[in-house]
Amino acid sequence: MKHILKSEDISANTKHFDVIKKIKQIKKEKNASLLVHYYQDSSIQEIADYLGDSLYLAKIAKNLDSDIIVLSGVHFMAETVKIINPEKKILLPDLKAGCSLADSCPPDLFKEFIKKYPEAVIVSYINCSAEIKAMSDIICTSSNAKAVIDSIPKDKQIIFAPDRNLGNYLIKETERNMILWDGSCVVHEAFSFDKVLDLFKKYPKAKFIAHPESKSLILDVANYVGSTSKLLEYVQKSPNKEFIVATEAGILHEMNKRCPDKLFIPAPVEDNSCACSECSFMKLNTLEKLYLCLKYEKPEITLTKEIITKAKVPLLKMLSIS
Ligand code: 13P
Ligand code: SF4
Repeated sequence: MKHILKSEDISANTKHFDVIKKIKQIKKEKNASLLVHYYQDSSIQEIADYLGDSLYLAKIAKNLDSDIIVLSGVHFMAETVKIINPEKKILLPDLKAGCSLADSCPPDLFKEFIKKYPEAVIVSYINCSAEIKAMSDIICTSSNAKAVIDSIPKDKQIIFAPDRNLGNYLIKETERNMILWDGSCVVHEAFSFDKVLDLFKKYPKAKFIAHPESKSLILDVANYVGSTSKLLEYVQKSPNKEFIVATEAGILHEMNKRCPDKLFIPAPVEDNSCACSECSFMKLNTLEKLYLCLKYEKPEITLTKEIITKAKVPLLKMLSIS
């Protein structure tokens, strides 16, 4: 059944704090937990029960005793929570909150691709659909990718999917010659090398930090490369005061909170018509949709038993070594 937003449920001028109050109340009544990714709008980050990167959210999901879990992030993250908690009700405020990287790896094409390498170990980045996870031997996130690759015996051939940028970065980091699926993220592919260099001229003391989904050209000149949580750790520990940040701009909210005395500049993107590096999928979730999804308990993530059973194995394998 389709989830129809009823406009009368929330008047157009409802103030944010009213919605926030309602969300907190309904969460309590329904024994629900709210898991939020760093790329969400700051108003949602602020009311999270758990805020973190994709690895943290997957780990937290394993140990929750709530009846309902709302994942405010994108579809593959909510699917991950469902795979780990098949018996629970998992909600995503907007079902259209997908991911260009996950979409770049259609299951039917991937099935044909892996047939060509029957001996290979299939490592899939968590940014993929449940169907791709079900075809994989082990999952990784950008936080633990190196450790996951290092856990595979040296004589084994490896297929890495779906992100070619993270894959190429890992080939250099691990010195393993992996077979890559040719997928990418529209947000991280958009950073402009030339504009970053121009920004350096303006802020010569700034450190340039990047998420490994960015292009090689960008990663090669970065002072530090890491997942969202690793980038956060880095800026906190660094004695530097200025940072140019090449990842989704939502992370700047937590960076500013943790380091109010430091300056964080979003890395510029190629396209001048685009204001900054925002993931439009992530930003589909709003406080209002969050409230409505808790109220009506939909949209709900549903997966077949077969997919859950198959996808759970590589996911739990990842969690056991993280
Ligand atoms: P993290 O694993 O760093 O949370 O990244 C998730 C993501 O979607 C990056 O674009
Ligand atoms: Fe997917 Fe890229 Fe958005 Fe992350 S930033 S959710 S990889 S589209």
